[in-house]
Amino acid sequence: MVTGDAAWREAARAVLAANDRGGYTVPTARLYPFQWNWDSAFVAMGFATWDCDRALTELERLAQGQWPDGMIPHIVFHRPSETYFPGPDVWGTESRRRAGGPATSGLTQPPVFATALRFVWEAMPDSARRERRERAAGLYRAALAWHRWWIGARDPAETGLVAVLHNWETGSDNSPAWDAALARVPTTTSTPIRRQDTGHVDAAMRPRDVDYQRYIHLVDTYRAAGWDPERQWAVAPFKVADVQTTAILARATEDLAALSSALGDDREAAELRDMGRRLCAGLMRQWRPALGRFVGHDLMVGRDIETATHAGFVPLLALDLDESTCAAATAEMTRWLAEVRLGLPTVPRSSPDFEARRYWRGPVWAVVNWLLILGLHRNGRLDLAERLRAGTLAAIERAGFAEHFDPLTGEGGGGSSFSWTAAAYLVLTELDPRRDHFPR
Ligand code: GLC
Repeated sequence: MVTGDAAWREAARAVLAANDRGGYTVPTARLYPFQWNWDSAFVAMGFATWDCDRALTELERLAQGQWPDGMIPHIVFHRPSETYFPGPDVWGTESRRRAGGPATSGLTQPPVFATALRFVWEAMPDSARRERRERAAGLYRAALAWHRWWIGARDPAETGLVAVLHNWETGSDNSPAWDAALARVPTTTSTPIRRQDTGHVDAAMRPRDVDYQRYIHLVDTYRAAGWDPERQWAVAPFKVADVQTTAILARATEDLAALSSALGDDREAAELRDMGRRLCAGLMRQWRPALGRFVGHDLMVGRDIETATHAGFVPLLALDLDESTCAAATAEMTRWLAEVRLGLPTVPRSSPDFEARRYWRGPVWAVVNWLLILGLHRNGRLDLAERLRAGTLAAIERAGFAEHFDPLTGEGGGGSSFSWTAAAYLVLTELDPRRDHFPR
Protein backbone atom coordinates (compact mmCIF):
# COMPACT_ATOMS: atom_id res chain seq x y z
CA MET A 1 0.00 0.00 0.00
CA VAL A 2 1.58 3.26 -1.09
CA THR A 3 -0.20 6.51 -0.35
CA GLY A 4 1.06 10.04 -0.85
CA ASP A 5 1.90 11.87 -3.95
CA ALA A 6 4.28 10.36 -6.51
CA ALA A 7 5.89 13.73 -7.18
CA TRP A 8 6.52 14.27 -3.47
CA ARG A 9 8.02 10.80 -3.17
CA GLU A 10 10.32 11.61 -6.06
CA ALA A 11 11.21 14.90 -4.36
CA ALA A 12 11.96 13.03 -1.12
CA ARG A 13 14.38 10.73 -2.95
CA ALA A 14 15.97 13.80 -4.53
CA VAL A 15 16.59 15.31 -1.05
CA LEU A 16 18.38 12.13 0.04
CA ALA A 17 20.40 12.10 -3.18
CA ALA A 18 21.38 15.76 -2.76
CA ASN A 19 22.47 15.18 0.86
CA ASP A 20 24.42 12.02 -0.04
CA ARG A 21 28.13 12.60 0.51
CA GLY A 22 29.20 9.26 -0.91
CA GLY A 23 27.70 6.48 1.23
CA TYR A 24 26.54 8.62 4.10
CA THR A 25 23.93 11.36 4.23
CA VAL A 26 24.22 14.72 5.97
CA PRO A 27 21.04 15.87 7.80
CA THR A 28 21.09 19.05 5.69
CA ALA A 29 23.83 21.02 3.95
CA ARG A 30 25.76 23.67 5.97
CA LEU A 31 23.79 23.56 9.28
CA TYR A 32 24.71 19.86 9.83
CA PRO A 33 27.53 18.97 7.40
CA PHE A 34 28.58 15.57 8.86
CA GLN A 35 26.97 12.19 9.57
CA TRP A 36 24.60 12.26 12.54
CA ASN A 37 23.78 9.04 14.35
CA TRP A 38 19.99 8.74 14.67
CA ASP A 39 19.42 10.80 11.54
CA SER A 40 21.28 8.14 9.57
CA ALA A 41 19.21 5.34 11.08
CA PHE A 42 16.01 7.02 9.89
CA VAL A 43 17.62 7.80 6.56
CA ALA A 44 18.60 4.13 6.11
CA MET A 45 14.91 3.20 6.45
CA GLY A 46 14.08 5.84 3.85
CA PHE A 47 16.64 4.38 1.44
CA ALA A 48 15.26 0.89 2.12
CA THR A 49 12.03 1.88 0.36
CA TRP A 50 13.92 1.59 -2.93
CA ASP A 51 17.63 0.76 -2.45
CA CYS A 52 18.60 -1.69 0.28
CA ASP A 53 22.28 -1.63 -0.65
CA ARG A 54 22.44 2.09 -0.09
CA ALA A 55 20.52 1.64 3.16
CA LEU A 56 23.11 -0.85 4.43
CA THR A 57 25.93 1.45 3.35
CA GLU A 58 24.43 4.29 5.42
CA LEU A 59 24.58 2.13 8.54
CA GLU A 60 28.06 0.82 7.65
CA ARG A 61 29.43 4.34 7.34
CA LEU A 62 28.00 5.19 10.74
CA ALA A 63 29.48 2.04 12.25
CA GLN A 64 32.91 3.08 10.93
CA GLY A 65 32.87 5.64 13.71
CA GLN A 66 32.14 3.05 16.44
CA TRP A 67 34.61 3.07 19.32
CA PRO A 68 36.36 -0.08 20.54
CA ASP A 69 34.23 0.08 23.69
CA GLY A 70 31.05 -0.26 21.58
CA MET A 71 29.83 3.35 21.68
CA ILE A 72 28.54 4.72 18.37
CA PRO A 73 29.14 8.49 18.45
CA HIS A 74 26.54 11.11 17.74
CA ILE A 75 28.59 12.68 14.92
CA VAL A 76 31.05 11.04 12.53
CA PHE A 77 33.28 13.62 10.86
CA HIS A 78 34.14 11.76 7.65
CA ARG A 79 35.36 14.94 5.98
CA PRO A 80 36.25 18.40 7.27
CA SER A 81 33.78 21.28 7.11
CA GLU A 82 34.09 24.83 8.34
CA THR A 83 30.36 25.42 8.75
CA TYR A 84 29.77 23.63 12.08
CA PHE A 85 30.79 24.14 15.70
CA PRO A 86 31.94 22.15 17.68
CA GLY A 87 34.01 20.45 14.98
CA PRO A 88 36.48 17.54 15.39
CA ASP A 89 39.23 19.63 17.02
CA VAL A 90 37.00 20.49 20.01
CA TRP A 91 36.14 16.91 20.94
CA GLY A 92 39.62 15.46 21.44
CA THR A 93 38.47 11.84 21.16
CA GLU A 94 41.63 10.35 19.56
CA SER A 95 42.57 8.13 22.49
CA ARG A 96 39.18 6.37 22.54
CA ARG A 97 38.63 5.98 18.82
CA ARG A 98 39.57 3.11 16.58
CA ALA A 99 43.02 3.66 15.05
CA GLY A 100 42.63 4.71 11.44
CA GLY A 101 38.90 5.36 11.89
CA PRO A 102 37.18 8.68 11.17
CA ALA A 103 37.14 11.55 13.69
CA THR A 104 34.06 11.56 15.90
CA SER A 105 32.32 13.43 18.69
CA GLY A 106 32.46 11.89 22.17
CA LEU A 107 28.72 11.73 22.91
CA THR A 108 26.15 9.29 21.60
CA GLN A 109 22.53 9.59 20.40
CA PRO A 110 19.28 7.57 20.51
CA PRO A 111 19.98 4.00 19.32
CA VAL A 112 17.53 3.69 16.42
CA PHE A 113 20.25 1.74 14.56
CA ALA A 114 19.05 -1.83 15.26
CA THR A 115 15.45 -0.92 14.46
CA ALA A 116 16.70 0.45 11.14
CA LEU A 117 18.74 -2.69 10.52
CA ARG A 118 15.69 -4.88 11.06
CA PHE A 119 13.65 -2.65 8.80
CA VAL A 120 16.22 -2.87 6.00
CA TRP A 121 16.62 -6.63 6.45
CA GLU A 122 12.89 -7.24 6.32
CA ALA A 123 12.53 -5.04 3.26
CA MET A 124 14.87 -7.34 1.30
CA PRO A 125 13.67 -10.41 -0.60
CA ASP A 126 15.24 -13.74 0.44
CA SER A 127 17.74 -13.80 -2.42
CA ALA A 128 18.99 -10.32 -1.51
CA ARG A 129 19.30 -11.39 2.14
CA ARG A 130 21.42 -14.37 1.19
CA GLU A 131 23.79 -12.17 -0.78
CA ARG A 132 24.04 -9.52 1.94
CA ARG A 133 24.07 -11.72 4.99
CA GLU A 134 27.70 -10.96 5.89
CA ARG A 135 27.16 -7.22 5.67
CA ALA A 136 24.01 -7.40 7.76
CA ALA A 137 25.77 -9.64 10.31
CA GLY A 138 28.54 -7.05 10.65
CA LEU A 139 25.94 -4.41 11.42
CA TYR A 140 24.16 -6.75 13.85
CA ARG A 141 27.44 -7.17 15.77
CA ALA A 142 27.99 -3.41 15.82
CA ALA A 143 24.52 -2.92 17.26
CA LEU A 144 25.00 -5.67 19.84
CA ALA A 145 28.24 -4.08 21.06
CA TRP A 146 26.54 -0.70 21.27
CA HIS A 147 23.57 -2.04 23.26
CA ARG A 148 25.96 -3.71 25.70
CA TRP A 149 27.79 -0.38 26.00
CA TRP A 150 24.52 1.40 26.85
CA ILE A 151 23.72 -1.02 29.63
CA GLY A 152 27.24 -1.06 31.11
CA ALA A 153 28.14 2.61 30.71
CA ARG A 154 24.77 4.26 31.20
CA ASP A 155 22.93 2.10 33.68
CA PRO A 156 25.67 0.97 36.06
CA ALA A 157 23.18 0.69 38.95
CA GLU A 158 20.92 -1.62 36.88
CA THR A 159 17.79 0.48 37.22
CA GLY A 160 16.40 -0.49 33.81
CA LEU A 161 16.67 3.11 32.56
CA VAL A 162 19.65 4.43 30.63
CA ALA A 163 21.03 7.88 31.35
CA VAL A 164 22.29 10.64 29.10
CA LEU A 165 25.18 12.87 30.18
CA HIS A 166 24.48 15.70 27.72
CA ASN A 167 21.24 17.08 26.31
CA TRP A 168 22.66 16.51 22.82
CA GLU A 169 22.57 12.79 23.54
CA THR A 170 18.78 12.84 23.81
CA GLY A 171 18.37 14.06 20.23
CA SER A 172 15.79 16.50 21.63
CA ASP A 173 18.59 18.96 22.29
CA ASN A 174 16.69 22.07 23.32
CA SER A 175 13.75 20.44 25.09
CA PRO A 176 12.43 22.28 28.17
CA ALA A 177 12.73 18.93 29.98
CA TRP A 178 16.45 19.67 30.43
CA ASP A 179 16.08 23.28 31.62
CA ALA A 180 16.29 22.65 35.35
CA ALA A 181 19.11 20.11 35.02
CA LEU A 182 21.08 22.40 32.68
CA ALA A 183 20.60 25.41 34.94
CA ARG A 184 22.92 23.66 37.44
CA VAL A 185 25.67 23.25 34.84
CA PRO A 186 28.29 26.02 35.03
CA THR A 187 28.67 28.39 32.08
CA THR A 188 32.48 28.47 32.22
CA THR A 189 34.28 26.96 29.25
CA SER A 190 37.88 26.32 28.31
CA THR A 191 36.95 26.06 24.63
CA PRO A 192 36.30 29.32 22.77
CA ILE A 193 32.74 29.25 21.43
CA ARG A 194 32.34 30.00 17.73
CA ARG A 195 28.67 29.35 17.05
CA GLN A 196 27.81 28.71 13.42
CA ASP A 197 24.19 27.59 13.67
CA THR A 198 22.75 31.08 14.03
CA GLY A 199 24.46 32.06 10.76
CA HIS A 200 22.41 29.38 8.95
CA VAL A 201 18.95 29.73 10.52
CA ASP A 202 17.00 32.38 12.44
CA ALA A 203 18.46 32.73 15.97
CA ALA A 204 14.91 32.79 17.36
CA MET A 205 14.62 29.09 16.46
CA ARG A 206 17.90 28.11 18.16
CA PRO A 207 19.20 27.87 21.74
CA ARG A 208 20.44 30.99 23.54
CA ASP A 209 24.18 31.76 23.96
CA VAL A 210 24.15 30.99 27.67
CA ASP A 211 22.72 27.55 26.89
CA TYR A 212 25.57 26.97 24.43
CA GLN A 213 28.12 27.79 27.15
CA ARG A 214 26.62 25.04 29.30
CA TYR A 215 26.67 22.54 26.42
CA ILE A 216 30.36 23.26 25.87
CA HIS A 217 31.10 23.14 29.60
CA LEU A 218 29.85 19.54 29.51
CA VAL A 219 32.02 18.74 26.48
CA ASP A 220 35.08 20.23 28.24
CA THR A 221 34.33 18.20 31.37
CA TYR A 222 34.08 14.87 29.55
CA ARG A 223 37.10 15.56 27.36
CA ALA A 224 39.09 16.21 30.55
CA ALA A 225 37.82 12.82 31.80
CA GLY A 226 39.36 11.25 28.69
CA TRP A 227 35.89 10.20 27.43
CA ASP A 228 36.17 7.21 29.75
CA PRO A 229 32.63 6.04 30.65
CA GLU A 230 33.35 5.41 34.34
CA ARG A 231 35.19 8.69 34.84
CA GLN A 232 32.50 10.58 32.96
CA TRP A 233 29.82 8.99 35.13
CA ALA A 234 31.74 10.07 38.23
CA VAL A 235 32.25 13.71 37.21
CA ALA A 236 29.06 14.38 35.20
CA PRO A 237 27.20 17.53 36.27
CA PHE A 238 24.23 16.48 34.09
CA LYS A 239 22.78 12.98 34.37
CA VAL A 240 19.23 12.25 33.28
CA ALA A 241 17.50 8.87 32.97
CA ASP A 242 15.57 9.55 29.78
CA VAL A 243 12.41 7.68 28.80
CA GLN A 244 12.72 8.48 25.09
CA THR A 245 16.26 7.07 24.87
CA THR A 246 15.36 4.07 27.01
CA ALA A 247 12.25 3.35 24.94
CA ILE A 248 14.20 3.56 21.69
CA LEU A 249 16.84 1.24 23.17
CA ALA A 250 14.18 -1.20 24.40
CA ARG A 251 12.52 -1.31 21.00
CA ALA A 252 15.85 -1.64 19.20
CA THR A 253 16.80 -4.44 21.58
CA GLU A 254 13.62 -6.31 20.65
CA ASP A 255 14.41 -5.76 16.97
CA LEU A 256 17.96 -6.98 17.46
CA ALA A 257 16.70 -10.08 19.26
CA ALA A 258 14.41 -10.73 16.28
CA LEU A 259 17.45 -10.58 13.99
CA SER A 260 19.57 -12.90 16.09
CA SER A 261 18.15 -16.10 14.58
CA ALA A 262 19.33 -14.98 11.13
CA LEU A 263 22.41 -12.98 12.06
CA GLY A 264 23.51 -14.01 15.56
CA ASP A 265 23.03 -16.95 17.90
CA ASP A 266 20.67 -18.28 20.59
CA ARG A 267 22.75 -17.08 23.52
CA GLU A 268 22.63 -13.54 22.19
CA ALA A 269 18.89 -13.84 21.61
CA ALA A 270 18.42 -14.80 25.27
CA GLU A 271 20.72 -11.99 26.43
CA LEU A 272 18.82 -9.45 24.33
CA ARG A 273 15.42 -10.65 25.47
CA ASP A 274 16.55 -10.32 29.06
CA MET A 275 17.97 -6.84 28.35
CA GLY A 276 14.67 -5.83 26.72
CA ARG A 277 12.62 -7.10 29.70
CA ARG A 278 14.69 -5.07 32.15
CA LEU A 279 14.39 -1.92 30.05
CA CYS A 280 10.63 -2.34 29.70
CA ALA A 281 10.29 -2.84 33.47
CA GLY A 282 12.35 0.31 34.03
CA LEU A 283 10.10 2.26 31.67
CA MET A 284 6.91 0.98 33.25
CA ARG A 285 8.02 2.33 36.62
CA GLN A 286 8.09 5.81 35.06
CA TRP A 287 4.38 5.79 34.13
CA ARG A 288 2.44 8.53 35.93
CA PRO A 289 -1.32 7.92 35.71
CA ALA A 290 -2.18 11.43 36.91
CA LEU A 291 -0.23 12.91 34.00
CA GLY A 292 -1.15 10.33 31.38
CA ARG A 293 2.52 10.09 30.41
CA PHE A 294 5.88 8.58 31.28
CA VAL A 295 8.42 10.84 32.99
CA GLY A 296 12.22 11.01 33.06
CA HIS A 297 14.33 11.16 36.20
CA ASP A 298 17.06 13.63 37.10
CA LEU A 299 19.75 11.48 38.72
CA MET A 300 21.69 14.49 40.04
CA VAL A 301 18.91 15.44 42.44
CA GLY A 302 16.86 12.24 42.57
CA ARG A 303 13.71 13.87 41.21
CA ASP A 304 11.33 13.09 38.37
CA ILE A 305 11.20 15.47 35.42
CA GLU A 306 7.52 16.16 34.91
CA THR A 307 7.88 18.74 32.12
CA ALA A 308 5.35 17.93 29.41
CA THR A 309 7.12 16.85 26.21
CA HIS A 310 6.50 14.29 23.46
CA ALA A 311 9.08 12.01 25.13
CA GLY A 312 6.38 10.98 27.61
CA PHE A 313 4.63 8.97 24.88
CA VAL A 314 7.63 7.41 23.15
CA PRO A 315 7.58 4.36 25.51
CA LEU A 316 4.58 3.05 23.52
CA LEU A 317 7.22 2.10 20.98
CA ALA A 318 8.49 -0.67 23.25
CA LEU A 319 5.67 -1.45 25.69
CA ASP A 320 2.47 -3.44 25.27
CA LEU A 321 0.33 -1.35 27.58
CA ASP A 322 -2.74 -2.61 29.39
CA GLU A 323 -6.03 -1.15 28.26
CA SER A 324 -6.44 1.53 30.93
CA THR A 325 -2.84 2.77 30.69
CA CYS A 326 -3.05 2.93 26.93
CA ALA A 327 -6.39 4.74 27.10
CA ALA A 328 -4.93 7.33 29.48
CA ALA A 329 -1.86 7.93 27.30
CA THR A 330 -3.85 8.23 24.10
CA ALA A 331 -6.40 10.52 25.76
CA GLU A 332 -3.55 12.83 26.74
CA MET A 333 -2.12 12.73 23.22
CA THR A 334 -5.55 13.55 21.83
CA ARG A 335 -5.77 16.58 24.12
CA TRP A 336 -2.41 17.84 22.79
CA LEU A 337 -3.57 17.31 19.22
CA ALA A 338 -6.79 19.24 19.77
CA GLU A 339 -4.80 22.38 20.62
CA VAL A 340 -2.79 22.48 17.38
CA ARG A 341 -3.34 22.31 13.67
CA LEU A 342 -1.33 19.22 12.78
CA GLY A 343 1.01 16.59 14.16
CA LEU A 344 1.86 15.90 17.77
CA PRO A 345 3.95 18.86 18.99
CA THR A 346 7.13 18.42 21.03
CA VAL A 347 5.57 20.54 23.80
CA PRO A 348 1.80 21.01 24.25
CA ARG A 349 0.42 24.40 23.38
CA SER A 350 -1.11 24.83 26.83
CA SER A 351 2.30 24.47 28.51
CA PRO A 352 4.08 27.64 29.68
CA ASP A 353 7.19 26.24 27.93
CA PHE A 354 5.50 26.18 24.51
CA GLU A 355 7.20 28.15 21.70
CA ALA A 356 5.80 27.40 18.26
CA ARG A 357 9.08 27.93 16.38
CA ARG A 358 12.01 27.36 18.75
CA TYR A 359 13.41 23.92 18.21
CA TRP A 360 12.26 21.13 20.55
CA ARG A 361 9.98 23.56 22.42
CA GLY A 362 6.83 23.08 20.40
CA PRO A 363 7.53 22.40 16.71
CA VAL A 364 6.38 19.16 15.13
CA TRP A 365 9.11 16.74 14.02
CA ALA A 366 8.29 14.16 11.34
CA VAL A 367 10.56 11.53 12.93
CA VAL A 368 9.03 12.02 16.38
CA ASN A 369 5.60 11.46 14.90
CA TRP A 370 6.95 8.41 13.06
CA LEU A 371 8.11 6.87 16.36
CA LEU A 372 4.76 7.65 17.98
CA ILE A 373 2.92 6.10 15.03
CA LEU A 374 4.90 2.86 15.48
CA GLY A 375 4.04 2.93 19.18
CA LEU A 376 0.35 3.42 18.45
CA HIS A 377 0.38 0.57 15.91
CA ARG A 378 1.97 -1.67 18.45
CA ASN A 379 -0.75 -0.83 20.95
CA GLY A 380 -3.58 -1.23 18.45
CA ARG A 381 -4.52 2.45 18.24
CA LEU A 382 -4.70 2.60 14.46
CA ASP A 383 -7.05 5.57 14.23
CA LEU A 384 -4.85 7.86 16.26
CA ALA A 385 -1.80 6.57 14.37
CA GLU A 386 -3.52 7.45 11.12
CA ARG A 387 -4.26 10.93 12.40
CA LEU A 388 -0.57 11.52 13.17
CA ARG A 389 0.47 10.02 9.86
CA ALA A 390 -1.93 12.14 7.83
CA GLY A 391 -0.95 15.27 9.79
CA THR A 392 2.76 14.67 9.25
CA LEU A 393 2.36 14.03 5.53
CA ALA A 394 0.14 17.09 5.16
CA ALA A 395 2.72 19.25 6.91
CA ILE A 396 5.39 18.06 4.48
CA GLU A 397 3.20 18.46 1.41
CA ARG A 398 2.42 21.99 2.48
CA ALA A 399 5.83 23.24 3.66
CA GLY A 400 8.36 20.85 2.11
CA PHE A 401 11.06 18.76 3.80
CA ALA A 402 11.71 21.21 6.63
CA GLU A 403 13.60 20.31 9.80
CA HIS A 404 10.40 20.91 11.80
CA PHE A 405 6.96 22.50 11.50
CA ASP A 406 5.09 25.18 13.40
CA PRO A 407 2.18 23.26 15.00
CA LEU A 408 -0.15 26.27 14.80
CA THR A 409 0.42 27.41 11.21
CA GLY A 410 2.09 24.39 9.60
CA GLU A 411 4.98 26.56 8.40
CA GLY A 412 8.39 24.93 8.05
CA GLY A 413 11.25 25.92 10.39
CA GLY A 414 14.96 25.25 10.95
CA GLY A 415 16.96 23.84 8.04
CA SER A 416 15.33 22.94 4.73
CA SER A 417 15.81 19.89 2.45
CA PHE A 418 16.18 17.82 5.60
CA SER A 419 17.13 14.16 5.13
CA TRP A 420 15.13 12.56 7.92
CA THR A 421 12.00 14.47 6.97
CA ALA A 422 12.39 13.09 3.44
CA ALA A 423 12.95 9.59 4.85
CA ALA A 424 9.85 9.97 7.02
CA TYR A 425 7.79 10.86 3.97
CA LEU A 426 9.00 7.80 2.07
CA VAL A 427 8.37 5.39 4.94
CA LEU A 428 5.12 6.89 6.22
CA THR A 429 3.55 6.81 2.77
CA GLU A 430 4.30 3.05 2.61
CA LEU A 431 3.57 2.04 6.18
CA ASP A 432 1.14 -0.82 6.60
CA PRO A 433 -0.16 -0.98 10.18
CA ARG A 434 -1.32 -4.58 9.75
CA ARG A 435 2.13 -5.91 8.97
CA ASP A 436 3.91 -5.34 12.22
CA HIS A 437 4.81 -1.80 11.17
CA PHE A 438 7.35 -2.91 8.58
CA PRO A 439 6.28 -2.03 5.08
CA ARG A 440 6.70 -5.18 2.98
C1 GLC B 1 19.73 18.71 16.02
C2 GLC B 1 18.71 17.78 16.65
C3 GLC B 1 19.26 16.36 16.65
C4 GLC B 1 19.67 15.95 15.24
C5 GLC B 1 20.61 16.97 14.62
C6 GLC B 1 20.86 16.69 13.15
O1 GLC B 1 20.89 18.78 16.78
O2 GLC B 1 18.38 18.19 17.92
O3 GLC B 1 18.30 15.46 17.13
O4 GLC B 1 20.25 14.70 15.26
O5 GLC B 1 20.05 18.26 14.73
O6 GLC B 1 19.66 16.66 12.45
